[in-house]
Amino acid sequence: MADSEFAATQWWQTGVIYQVYPRSFQDTDGDGVGDLRGITARLDYLVGLGVDAVWISPFYPSSMADFGYDVTDYTGVDPLFGTLEDFDALLAAAHAKGLRVILDFVPNHSSDQHPWFVESRSSRECPKRDWYLWHDAAPPGEDWRPAPERVPNNWMSHFGGPAWTWDEGKQQFYLHSFLKEQPDLNWRNPEVRAAIYAAMRFWLDRGVDGFRMDVLWLLIKDEFFRDNPPNPVYDGAQHDVKRVLPVHNADQSETQEIVAEMRAVLDAYGPTMGAANGGSSRVLIGEIYLPLPKLVRYYGAVPQLSGANLPFNFHLIQTRWAADAIADVIRSYEALLPAGAWPNYVLGNHDQPRLASRIGAQQARAAAMLLLTLRGTPTMYYGDELGMADVAIAPEQVRDPAEKNEPGKGRGRDPERSPMLWVSAPNAGFTRPDATPWLPLEKGWETENAAAQSQRPKSMLVLYRKLLALRRQHDTLHSGAIADVEAEGSVLRFRRVGLADGESTDFQVLLNLGMEVATVKCAAGTVVLTTLLDGEGSRVGGAVTIEGGEGLLIALG
Ligand code: NOJ
Repeated sequence: MADSEFAATQWWQTGVIYQVYPRSFQDTDGDGVGDLRGITARLDYLVGLGVDAVWISPFYPSSMADFGYDVTDYTGVDPLFGTLEDFDALLAAAHAKGLRVILDFVPNHSSDQHPWFVESRSSRECPKRDWYLWHDAAPPGEDWRPAPERVPNNWMSHFGGPAWTWDEGKQQFYLHSFLKEQPDLNWRNPEVRAAIYAAMRFWLDRGVDGFRMDVLWLLIKDEFFRDNPPNPVYDGAQHDVKRVLPVHNADQSETQEIVAEMRAVLDAYGPTMGAANGGSSRVLIGEIYLPLPKLVRYYGAVPQLSGANLPFNFHLIQTRWAADAIADVIRSYEALLPAGAWPNYVLGNHDQPRLASRIGAQQARAAAMLLLTLRGTPTMYYGDELGMADVAIAPEQVRDPAEKNEPGKGRGRDPERSPMLWVSAPNAGFTRPDATPWLPLEKGWETENAAAQSQRPKSMLVLYRKLLALRRQHDTLHSGAIADVEAEGSVLRFRRVGLADGESTDFQVLLNLGMEVATVKCAAGTVVLTTLLDGEGSRVGGAVTIEGGEGLLIALG
């Protein structure tokens, strides 16, 4: 039992989060792009699925160079997605159904069309001149190239090329960790902090239940803009950003101060639904791609008071899909969690290849059981509950700017952003029959959609519904301890142990992450669920045989 265990009292500890990529969830106006009214129309589906909170990727006014992650107004709704009234209606409807709403917030950068940047680039004297990261060209020294070619340092953009773009008007470079249309805000400037916190309050006042903060670990950069060291294993085939090691432009210690400030903004607010339950009632989630020892620092010095409530843990996505490797991740994570920190796991998102494509359809079932029986808040990605896979994107269909900037290097993110599959009707019910979805539908949508899978007793959707219902039903599954995390050959095993009130059930989870059938030891118990949706209710004990890719949830005793 981990030292860090403590009673779960908050919805974001006991609940399950479901990510909606709004362009792709449900279109109501026939433009082929999803919208807020579409999400409202599908809330009953989410309630029926059994999730507790919906995280919505950005829908703010945007120049759409990065599909909403380039914000032009932090306190509005882009007409493509609807209106502020549509958002208020969505939030009210969600709350009425007992669902929480988490917004995606993008504090590291705005759009280059944001009025703040338009002003900041207008002159070297204007009040907002230091709201972004401006820098003179590197001194010529021996370098006789013109100033616009002498970048201040060797930092690279995550979307290819240098992280610096020359501005003719200001005769300076500005920094952009992503597209040149996404200039980085200067988080050392107190006015920037105040402006972003004010925008957060705008949404908190409206009643949102929390934020997922985009690239939280990138907010602060080295104040001296020092060069990053070269990456000794860069081989030319990887993305440009891998050319150097991000020593000076990621995970800077001062970032923790900002995280604490953001947390204070949220903690000043009470609950949106139900009575206060102590602790944080609105949740601060951080998008953070870091090794576990560095990741857990984002829980803050005293997790009950500072830090992110849930620094996203992406290690189930990044780790080799094998029992020994996954067992290692779970054990290390549990051991590293600071006292008072609540764990979490993510299996997919709009930046990662789809789960079913990464590990295959059968293993995706085991992954579902893993995610929903682990200790810690699970985050699901829309469509994973149908087993949706990556969609093939022809060159002329590419929409993702990251792929356009670095074609052929790795892969773009369009494949995992294809429209949600609802019904066996044209366009799978995502948009009107005569409309053109912004990305192609996954093949097989005629049978692998939510309505069709609802009718099939052994479908992926039914498996997810059962897992979510069990997690909700049994305190042990959402709030109990985790113990005996081990790999036995290809089988990952762990126990979930009830709180000490003597009334709860303990569970054994057995997941065969290999392809071959395996037999492992097992204490006496009753099978509550199998990922193949057969054999429930049978008694086991002594030894149990598990198919490749199969998972068993066993109630012990
Ligand atoms: C992380 C987001 O998840 C990704 O989709 C986006 O492109 C970058 N941040 C830039 O905002």
